[in-house]
Amino acid sequence: MSRKQETHQFHFLRPCPSKDVLYQMVKNHFDLEADSYDQFDANHEKRRSYTAGINQLISLRLPNASKVLSVACGTGRRDLEIRFMAKQNYEIYGVEISGEMSKIATKNGIKCDHANWLDFKSDTFFDAAFFLYAFGAIPDSNDRLLALRKIKDCLAKNTPLYMDVLNIDDKNEWGLKIKNEFDQAELGKYGYELGDILYSKIGETKLAYWHYFSKQEIEDLLKQAGFKKINIQYIGYGKFPGKIVSSNEGAIFIEAFS
Ligand SMILES: C[S@@+](CC[C@H](N)C(=O)[O-])C[C@H]1O[C@@H](n2cnc3c(N)ncnc32)[C@H](O)[C@@H]1O
Repeated sequence: MSRKQETHQFHFLRPCPSKDVLYQMVKNHFDLEADSYDQFDANHEKRRSYTAGINQLISLRLPNASKVLSVACGTGRRDLEIRFMAKQNYEIYGVEISGEMSKIATKNGIKCDHANWLDFKSDTFFDAAFFLYAFGAIPDSNDRLLALRKIKDCLAKNTPLYMDVLNIDDKNEWGLKIKNEFDQAELGKYGYELGDILYSKIGETKLAYWHYFSKQEIEDLLKQAGFKKINIQYIGYGKFPGKIVSSNEGAIFIEAFS
């Protein structure tokens, strides 16, 4: 069972809504989730172990930093956990599209700007950047490339970006179903890219957008964006949550250097 299979279901509207509508769906979804977001993560064992596993990997690798950028920081809870685990005292700068998430992050002590990362203008250089459990919410391949270029442009030379994305080849996730549906329903004709889904919580109707990646796809994007050294590991979610697993059964965890 996948992280979303247990709690969420996916749909395909035809045609695929425009990019602006997809951003709005994402924003609305997380505005509604904000108050219960951390609780949901804590109560959902697989999510808790998965995020804890990723937090630990980052905290062990993170170089000494004075400023860290967290794109799509949500409530900022994980940024604070990672800093604590890394035994560091850097400043955390968040950018968050959901006003409600952004308010909570600010209360939690993150310097958080309420903005779509694609529209955000940064005049600061950072020693590291995070894009955790969120890159799949960027609704098309052009914007995904722009988003990575923007991160690269505000990282000091040879500093790391840490991110994780859902793996379309994870046999414990929805990937196979998504690929089959894409081919059989000819979703490309309706404006979808392979890996796109619209999803809702089970029993609810409001939709949000997410994208699943292949290793090749995310590596190519990072290279095009100018990242040089790219290290990839697979972290279990549906099975062995938070543990390092093989390429066909986990989410993709990335460390990429500017
Ligand atoms: C699943 S949550 C993860 C939050 C946090 N990074 C964590 O790991 O707990 C995804 C977050 O990404 C934010 N987000 C999605 N697209 C964004 C964008 N284009 N710019 C800024 N934030 C975005 C959402 O509002 C949401 O808070």
